[in-house]
Parts: sequence; structure tokens; C-alpha cells
Amino acid sequence: MTPPYPATEVPPNLLSTARPTITRLVRALDERLPQGGERLDEIARYALLPAGKLLRPLLLVESARAVGGDYDAIIPAALGVEYLHAGSLVHDDVIDGDVLRRGRPTVVARYGVEDAVVTGDALIMGMFAAVTDCADHGLPADRLLDAVRVLARAGVDLCRGQAMEAELRGDPRCGLDPYLTMIALKTGALFRGACQAGAVLGGGSPAEQRALTEFAEHLGLAFQMHDDLLPHTSDTRTSGKSGMSDVANGRPTFPVLMGYAMAGPAGRDALETALGGTLPAPEALAVVTELLESTGALEAARERARVEVVRAKECLTVLDSSPSTAVLAAVADFSIDREL
Ligand code: IPE
Ligand code: IPE
Ligand code: MG
Repeated sequence: MTPPYPATEVPPNLLSTARPTITRLVRALDERLPQGGERLDEIARYALLPAGKLLRPLLLVESARAVGGDYDAIIPAALGVEYLHAGSLVHDDVIDGDVLRRGRPTVVARYGVEDAVVTGDALIMGMFAAVTDCADHGLPADRLLDAVRVLARAGVDLCRGQAMEAELRGDPRCGLDPYLTMIALKTGALFRGACQAGAVLGGGSPAEQRALTEFAEHLGLAFQMHDDLLPHTSDTRTSGKSGMSDVANGRPTFPVLMGYAMAGPAGRDALETALGGTLPAPEALAVVTELLESTGALEAARERARVEVVRAKECLTVLDSSPSTAVLAAVADFSIDREL
């Protein structure tokens, strides 16, 4: 099924073993912000449902369960991490000037900048409200405090990453190191926050918390490296977002940086021009894709993302194996085997 699909439909794209949890999360999202609320709630609901892949709340739940945590008690925190994610996407689409996400108009395209900024803010604040609601299910206050601290830091790191991305705009000469720092913040931080918060809320030992945190850091890198490939490997109908966004915004993405390192002088000039904003975006995207294919950069980028997945899964060996660790490993595999 291609998005859009009905609001309470379970996203069609995930691992079968994760389906019961995903179904539960969709229902809980629907119940927390029912239809027919005031305008701000309606827009927030539009940002949340129909749901995306729900990877971060899934990671939080399965991390908690992997260390012996109680399923019911942590669902509000899982919703909280999705609120934070959705809020950051609403803002990201304002920054990137994007009009399509999950196969339908972005919040900014549908409601305008003012409502998008306020709704993104409300969703981010909603994270704190949701996580602290775990107290109503008997979760100890010290675990909640730690989880809030972890998620608040993740949110700040995400913003650092977004700010750093703006600094790197238009410059394929920046090299891989700043890029890796940037995606660890922009994307890795929230994966880390989800797994670490889950481990904390589930009462994991320090070694278990460390293993899940490191797992998430590698997973976050792999996820964003693969996401950067999508404009060149997936189409808008499948991915649900514009393949032109990165090139239109002059983003030195992972394959572009690999391609820049592998290309000769003419190829480098072509990449600099494509990111320089002088070409129409469709033309720039065609030039970049052609070059990344001919230099072998797409395959090199894919291989590097695979390495991060292997590293991520190695971290899981510290934990007792369980259905939850199997889902976590499956999420890692899925992160680089997806078209949306
Ligand atoms: C999109 O994340 C933002 C990135 C970090 C690339 P997802 O691809 O997880 O978004 P949804 O929630 O499934 O739409
Ligand atoms: C991801 O950035 C957004 C955040 C991490 C907040 P991107 O701009 O790379 O992701 P998409 O392509 O919009 O989903
Ligand atoms: Mg974006």
C-alpha cells in the first residue's frame, strides 16, 4: 500500500514481528489525540497520523522490554518520542521548504508557516507531557527523571545537527568527518534517545543501557546514510517525499561526499555546480545521480551503511537474546533495506 492510507491504518512497511507493537502504538496515538479536538490538536494529529514507520517508539518499547521492562507502563513514553520526532519533522519541512511527506502535503504546505511552527513546538512540548504520564502507570520517579533528561538532550542534539547541516549547505568539499558528526546529531541522537530512554525506563543495568545506546548510535548513522540514498534509488510515489529536496537545498549528502572523494576534477566540478543552486533541481538531481552511479559512489555508500548495521547488531550481543532483541536486530536490517 502506498501512502496516504487511513489515519488509524497500521503502516504497511514493517517487519512482521513488530506488527503487534506497531498496531498498539497506532491505537495509542489515535486515542491520545482523538479527532474533533481544537485546531492545534487537529494539526498535531495530522502530523502524527497516518503514522510513519514508528521506528523510534518501537525502539523505545523493545529496548525497555529487552531489559525486562513492563510493556503497558512505557507506552506513553514511546508516544512521547514519536511526538518529538514528528515535531522535528514539521519544523524540518519548514526549513527544507518541502511540500510532501508520507505521501501527503506537509503541515507547512497545508496549514502555513505560522501553524507549522506552533504545532512543531506543541509536539515537542507534548513529548514531556507524554513521558511524565508514565508516572500514572507506576513507573518510579527516578527512572522518569532520567528518561526525560535523556530525551531532552537528544532533542537539543537534534537541533545542533540541524544547525550544523545549515552550515554545510552547498559545500561538497567539506569531507566526511563533519558530515558524520552532523548526522550523529541530527538523526542519531533521537535513535539514541529512544533506546536509552527505553533501557532506563525498563530498569536496565548500566551495561545494558550502554549496549542499547551504542546500538542506537550505529543504527542512527546507518539509517541516515541510507536515507540520503533514497533520492537516487527510490521514487516519490514510494518514498512519499520529494527526491529533489536535498539537491535543491544544496545538501552534501552521504553519497555526494563519497562521490566527491571518488570523482576526478570534472566530476567534482559537476557536483559543486549541482549543489550550487544555479541549475533547476530536476537537472541537478539527474547530474548527481548519473555521477554517483558512474563513480560507484552509490554502492560504496551502501557498503558503508552495511558496516554500521553490523556494528549495531554486535552491540546487542551484550543482552540476553529475546523476541525484543530480535526485533531490534530486524530494525537495524530494515534501516538499510527500505524504499521509504
Ligand atoms: C525521517 O525519519 C527523518 C530522518 C531522520 C531521515 P523517518 O523515515 O523515520 O520518518 P517517518 O516517521 O517514518 O515518516
Ligand atoms: C531529517 O532530516 C530531519 C531531522 C532529523 C529532524 P532530512 O531533511 O534529511 O530528512 P527528510 O528527508 O526531510 O525526511
Ligand atoms: Mg528534510
